[in-house]
Amino acid sequence: MKILITGGAGFIGSHVVRLFVNKYPEYEIFNLDALTYAGNLENLVDIEDRSNYHFIKADINNILEINSLFEKYKFDKVIHLAAESHVDRSIKDPLAFVKTNVIGTMNLLNAAKDHWSKDYKNNLFYHISTDEVYGTLGETGLFTESTSYDPNSPYSASKASSDHFVRAYGETYDLPYIITNCSNNYGPNQFPEKLIPLFINNIIDNINLPVYGDGKYTRDWLYVIDHAVAIDLAFHNGKLKSTYNIGGFNEWQNIDLVKLLCDIMDVKLGRDKGTSEKLITYIKDRPGHDKRYAIDATKINKELGWKPSVTFEEGLEKTIDWYLNNKKWLDNVTSGDYQKYYNEQY
Ligand code: NAD
Ligand code: TYD
Repeated sequence: MKILITGGAGFIGSHVVRLFVNKYPEYEIFNLDALTYAGNLENLVDIEDRSNYHFIKADINNILEINSLFEKYKFDKVIHLAAESHVDRSIKDPLAFVKTNVIGTMNLLNAAKDHWSKDYKNNLFYHISTDEVYGTLGETGLFTESTSYDPNSPYSASKASSDHFVRAYGETYDLPYIITNCSNNYGPNQFPEKLIPLFINNIIDNINLPVYGDGKYTRDWLYVIDHAVAIDLAFHNGKLKSTYNIGGFNEWQNIDLVKLLCDIMDVKLGRDKGTSEKLITYIKDRPGHDKRYAIDATKINKELGWKPSVTFEEGLEKTIDWYLNNKKWLDNVTSGDYQKYYNEQY
């Protein structure tokens, strides 16, 4: 089986590629990635020499190239993760999100539709999406697979749009698809623009921790390797033309999470308790900031037997240890353009 994984040099993609390359030596894994600021082949050094792993540097916005790659390699299945993924960047440059997340997904859908035989025997278009397509929750309730889409940011609107196109290709052209909508991921290799790695990096460097608004926004956090395991299960055993929500059953208000992170970092760095907390700085809120996300992951639990394997405290500790042990990785990704981004954003 030849599997095209897009965005495999990014955060979640690299964990999915590693899992598939290691667990399924009989599959040929093709990691297609444009290596934007978020893509980093250092994430995959441990598996880059494996005979069932191949890297293709390509942009999903380039339809001619995507078509010729489908022609050349004859991929059987696609796991599509490539995307612009950061909400703050989508507020600054929404069109970049439409291009990659909507048009890029369309290019892959069209290539799959045009190159696969019409019975789609042994084909699958697996689209990786987010819980942010559902918009925001109030104090109570959970997102289920039948919650209406109600995106509030350019990022979530572009992901919602791509989800709709995937579903529409299933209805209109019979393309076999699966969509999974996952909550906030954290773990090793996440680019330090997202909350947890940004704050770990700032604490190491004694830089302010910029908390948006009152800090009382809630996210449902999932350790990235648990997401990769869920993707493996859905890919192999998921019901075609259906969607699954994936989440950590793990809601945290940002400010509580940040305080826990500060406490662990103080211990790890041998600093006095309370040192890192002093770096917390409340700043202007993000426009359109979704108040609360929380996933009901009952369906994937009941149908596929998936549940998270680590507690948040365990996952956070593993994550912090990884960043502290991979300072070179952090230094590499925060040099160059990162400083410009940081100064403009904060
Ligand atoms: P990321 O930003 O870390 O990685 C994205 C990857 O896609 C990078 O390697 C980048 O180089 C590549 N890419 C971007 N534009 C491309 C293009 N035009 N052509 C080819 N490659 C391109 O993102 P992530 O956090 O790993 O997210 C991966 C997927 O999972 C995304 O689709 C995202 O919407 C979804 N998702 C993320 C989260 C989360 O918490 N991070 C949660 C749920 C769903
Ligand atoms: P983020 O990691 O950007 O994920 P998302 O917006 O996709 O949920 O942000 C997680 C939460 O942390 C969100 O409520 C915004 C907040 N946040 C801050 O308070 N400060 C920051 O500097 C960042 C990046 C996020």
